[in-house]
Amino acid sequence: MKHFIHLKDIPSRDLRKILLDAKRRKNSRKKLNTLDIDKDKPLRGKFLIQMFEKSSLRTRLSFNLAIKQLGGGTITLRSNELHLGQGGESLEDTAKILSTYGDGFMLRTDDDKKIDNFANYSNIPVINGLSPSSHPTQILSDVFTVEELTKKNISSLNICWIGDSNNVLNSLIAASVKFNFKLNIGCPKNYTPNKNIFNWAKKMNKDLKIYHDPKIAIQNADVIFSDKVISLNDKVDKKKKLEAFKKFKITSSLLKKAKKNYIFLHCLPRGSEVEDKVFQSKNSQVWLQALNRVHVQKSILLYCFGKLR
Ligand code: CP
Ligand code: NVA
Repeated sequence: MKHFIHLKDIPSRDLRKILLDAKRRKNSRKKLNTLDIDKDKPLRGKFLIQMFEKSSLRTRLSFNLAIKQLGGGTITLRSNELHLGQGGESLEDTAKILSTYGDGFMLRTDDDKKIDNFANYSNIPVINGLSPSSHPTQILSDVFTVEELTKKNISSLNICWIGDSNNVLNSLIAASVKFNFKLNIGCPKNYTPNKNIFNWAKKMNKDLKIYHDPKIAIQNADVIFSDKVISLNDKVDKKKKLEAFKKFKITSSLLKKAKKNYIFLHCLPRGSEVEDKVFQSKNSQVWLQALNRVHVQKSILLYCFGKLR
């Protein structure tokens, strides 16, 4: 049984296999409708339980479509509707019950330990649909989008992140090791990446760099990633944090330093970290990026269910 919790714990070979399968499947359903099932119906009869402790638009919808296109079904729970969320049942018992009814469990949570505990007590695969320390399904899908658009292996590209040192960046850092790409991070001095993940990655990726000047970080970039300065349930002095990031706003003027045909990506939802003009420009590929989550998550589900071709 394979969980999908943090990219850093998944072998590169497996991640590459997931992307290959996603490419094949995406190509093979060009003429199908949204809810048509892939011809081989690989997850027919399988049931994915999803639980959200935090808001979600994309992850929720894309996992719904993903499991349905594979022939399976799903339910979405809010944790406060469960005894667990009310303090009336233990996580262990909840995990055992989920494993009795379901074949897979996707969890978005504010607590990394909770995902680990679910994985320990479950007899079914657990997928991390965003936690404080990572957002692995998002970033694996973003690698897919970059390669689809550029038709190049991501290892030959200059990738840049301008913004907060958050869960999405942690997964991007892990991906830079797994897929071997150059990654420049542009962030303010007091908002540098998580030391554990950065130090782990730095040992394997010499081309992982942090700059406190966005103009240097973005130099020659093929792809620029960003995310909200204030994440879901971020317990910070918001005014102070937004002020610290003022210089790091993605503007057309800053983007002059990137490569001419740069790609702009943003996992969404967005805040004030990117100029509207940039977000709406032809270089911005955020809608395709959101759509591709369906395709990549299908192959993640197949990986977890032991059905990857
Ligand atoms: N990008 C992303 O995970 O979006 P949601 O929070 O809407 O799921
Ligand atoms: N960093 C953001 C990502 C949202 C998809 C958050 O955790 O809220």
